[in-house]
Amino acid sequence: MRLRNVKDTDKILDSCSYLIKDYTNLKGKWNEEFQNNNPIYLEIGMGMGDFLYKMALKYPEINFIGMEKQSKVIVRAIKKYPQKLANLRIIRGDALNLKQVFAKEIATIYLNFSDPWPKIRHQNRRLTSAIFLNIYEDLFKNNKRIIMKTDNLTLLASSIVSLSKFGYIINEVNFDLENSDIYNICTEYEMKFRNMGIKINYLEGIKK
Ligand SMILES: C[S@@+](CC[C@H](N)C(=O)[O-])C[C@H]1O[C@@H](n2cnc3c(N)ncnc32)[C@H](O)[C@@H]1O
Repeated sequence: MRLRNVKDTDKILDSCSYLIKDYTNLKGKWNEEFQNNNPIYLEIGMGMGDFLYKMALKYPEINFIGMEKQSKVIVRAIKKYPQKLANLRIIRGDALNLKQVFAKEIATIYLNFSDPWPKIRHQNRRLTSAIFLNIYEDLFKNNKRIIMKTDNLTLLASSIVSLSKFGYIINEVNFDLENSDIYNICTEYEMKFRNMGIKINYLEGIKK
């Protein structure tokens, strides 16, 4: 994601009440952070955060955590958040380190328009590669649920294969989300693709 420089990035992040800096201290204790035992949904690569914020507004009985590795992108997201929501948190970091953050606490993982890494030699970097699915194993509380949206059919296909090999049941696949009955909140990338007339693919995998 290419961005212009955002002034005072660190200052803005330091004063952001959503951003959890010492999140490794919360491993296994996220219910204390939220002060409830509601399910926790994690979005990896939240980008500019529309989806996360609108989901948190719509579902106050679910706790939402957005993970993003780029500080400048997080700043863009929080600048757009008009009010503080009790069920929303953001963490800055790389999904490769998720085992240091959660222990059997997550109910659902969202992967919205993850980088497709089209070259075969980069396929391990896809957020649905076996490397990442292995990391996710220890994060989930009960059933494992991964929901993905993408414009990229190669990423979709490789994710179906990867999830299936890992024991996930493919619960839903849709090749035209906009014209489906699936409830949907758009992300920034999704709006961009829709405006270009590109169809959006949806995938849901579940593992017991
Ligand atoms: C293509 S953008 C999509 C952003 C947003 N989900 C959307 O749909 O508008 C992918 C985002 O994932 C983030 N990202 C990619 N790999 C990541 C990783 N391993 N850990 C955390 N964030 C990651 C990138 O920094 C980028 O902001």
